[in-house]
Amino acid sequence: MSDQHYWEQVYTNRSVPQECSLFAQFVRQNYLQLPHHVIELGCGNGRDAHYLVDYCAQLTAVDQCKAEITRLQRTNHHPNLKFMVADFTHLPIVHQQYDLIYSRFTLHSISSAAQQRVLSWTKKAVTASGWLCIEARGYRNSLYQRGQSVPNESDAFIYNDHYRRFINLPDLVAQLKNQGWQIVLAREDQGFAPFAGQDDYFWRLVATLP
Ligand SMILES: C[S@@+](CC[C@H](N)C(=O)[O-])C[C@H]1O[C@@H](n2cnc3c(N)ncnc32)[C@H](O)[C@@H]1O
Repeated sequence: MSDQHYWEQVYTNRSVPQECSLFAQFVRQNYLQLPHHVIELGCGNGRDAHYLVDYCAQLTAVDQCKAEITRLQRTNHHPNLKFMVADFTHLPIVHQQYDLIYSRFTLHSISSAAQQRVLSWTKKAVTASGWLCIEARGYRNSLYQRGQSVPNESDAFIYNDHYRRFINLPDLVAQLKNQGWQIVLAREDQGFAPFAGQDDYFWRLVATLP
């Protein structure tokens, strides 16, 4: 379940924020360095990619939405920024290519099986001492358990025509530790992504490979 049609419509209507997210600013301030090669998984309208690219050496931004990525490719003039149409749950295996792997509000858009694929790809794709930076919805988010349950998928619901799978942060932390990641930050809180007058709970996770 990737909700591609839903997102295509959202971007066609341009009903999404244009300014960069607070998470992008947080990552830039705390983890991003100028020589870094970065990949963004699920870049949407490119708002965070356009911001982050000025603080790194090279940024590849991937999304499944062909029309939106085509628009971004046409209008992008930054030499270090590349937009690509791709399913980020099926990226080709590369070895130690990215210093920072960035995912905002995309891990909860995919199934748990797809998440496993992304995490195993991530481990191969990140450089030694590189960063994995994720922001997503967890159990404390106000939409948790709203809408219709998705069959055969824990904690996934269709609400307002839209798929969301709520990720239990302690479970993800345990899974990443098992895979050898060192957890630098794992926190579910308010203040991360206030939107339309509401300050809901989201979680942030930053991990590195020691
Ligand atoms: C909630 S939006 C977040 C967009 C952007 N990261 C932001 O914070 O504004 C989720 C995005 O993930 C993309 N996405 C979801 N599943 C995907 C997949 N399997 N491959 C590529 N893109 C995907 C959607 O097309 C959508 O643009």
